[in-house]
Amino acid sequence: MNILLLGSGGREHALAWKIKQSAHCDKLFVAPGNAGTQTLATNLAFNDDDFEAIKMACLKYEIELVVVGPETPLVKGIVDFFEHDAALSKCAIIGPNKIAAQLEGSKDFSKHLMQQCHIPTAKYATFTKANFNAGIDYLKTHPLPIVLKADGLAAGKGVLICTSNQEAIDEFTAMLQDHKFGEASAKVVVEEFLEGIELSVFVVTDGISYKMLPSAKDYKRIGEGDTGLNTGGMGAVSPVPFADSTFLKKVETQIVAPLLSGLKQNNILYKGFLFVGLMNSNGEPSVIEFNCRLGDPETEVLVPRLKTDMVEIFMAIAHSKVNELEIEILDETAVTVFLVSGGYPDTYQKGLVIKGLNQVKESMVFHAGTTTINQETVTHGGRVIALTSLGNSIQEAVTKSLASAHLITYEGKYFRNDIGKDLI
Ligand code: AMP
Ligand code: GLY
Repeated sequence: MNILLLGSGGREHALAWKIKQSAHCDKLFVAPGNAGTQTLATNLAFNDDDFEAIKMACLKYEIELVVVGPETPLVKGIVDFFEHDAALSKCAIIGPNKIAAQLEGSKDFSKHLMQQCHIPTAKYATFTKANFNAGIDYLKTHPLPIVLKADGLAAGKGVLICTSNQEAIDEFTAMLQDHKFGEASAKVVVEEFLEGIELSVFVVTDGISYKMLPSAKDYKRIGEGDTGLNTGGMGAVSPVPFADSTFLKKVETQIVAPLLSGLKQNNILYKGFLFVGLMNSNGEPSVIEFNCRLGDPETEVLVPRLKTDMVEIFMAIAHSKVNELEIEILDETAVTVFLVSGGYPDTYQKGLVIKGLNQVKESMVFHAGTTTINQETVTHGGRVIALTSLGNSIQEAVTKSLASAHLITYEGKYFRNDIGKDLI
């Protein structure tokens, strides 16, 4: 079958690489893709949330399967768009519909559902302009630190951790009164701070059955030792050693199963991948967030460990056969080290020539922010290249990724040398 993959990051290059290995894949298209996906597939030059352009491409290229990488098209309702268009009735699309995608698209929706399903998560309250003064009173006596979250999508920037009550009041005011995150902060969730170590667990579901995918840990801060500004992710490790079978059983019985039955009780059909962002507090899991898609860079460590045909996973979701799906995972550990642009996550230059990509032999090279200009691969985003290696230990895998990181060059290249070190 012909397949269209939406997105342009390292996650999408890793997915494209895996999809191309499937016997079920004839032609693969990626929109908009990057310089890496271009070597495996045909890149199409439109945005991943341009529904009309996506429809036209599906008809023109006789696409039978659309895979949605990022959250924006899902939260905007691309699945509903496909379901309501007769011309697209033969085209399966992988991901939750608009209501189900609210699990990521609205923090308030997600917290409310967790409360209803008795899922362990931080205590919270939600405020809008209408109860602004009550919010200020709530913040005056809230224990520190205080977590403020813009309700809607805010490009990963909508969470603030405030260390004084006054800072929380100022930020809360900026979010609600001054539209700090635009429409996304028209509602603000105020949350208790959770202590512990973060990790994520992934689930595949057709809304009826589910299967657990491996755990992964990403490294969000720009600096070594988890310091400095938050980024989209500087690296990842899978599996996570401290997420042993006892912990993962708790995640399944206390979080995944109650969530999926809660969705069903609310007549919400959730199909696709579920990203469960967790805090491990002394062996007890609590939910930090749900995302309605796979993670980036977590996909770059998950997909290389997957023995199962990726397209068979998509078809099981589309045809409600997840109960029959056998997910096979390599025992090896995968470690991704991300090469980023100098200056990221603040401003950075684009268009810098990348050399040495062909020198890498011991790692998989997944492109993220890259493009091709005059037949040269150049930087085109903050996160540039994800280098994933497999090994019998974190140490072995990370050593390979770091060696590969030195082979690739561009002006201002930066990466963290300590990915996975806290877990060794
Ligand atoms: P989110 O967008 O909800 O994933 O939040 C972004 C980051 O903020 C998370 O990855 C955590 O590092 C941090 N965070 C969010 N909520 C909490 C919380 N309740 N307690 C501690 N840290 C949090
Ligand atoms: N790595 C975090 C995310 O994909 O949201």
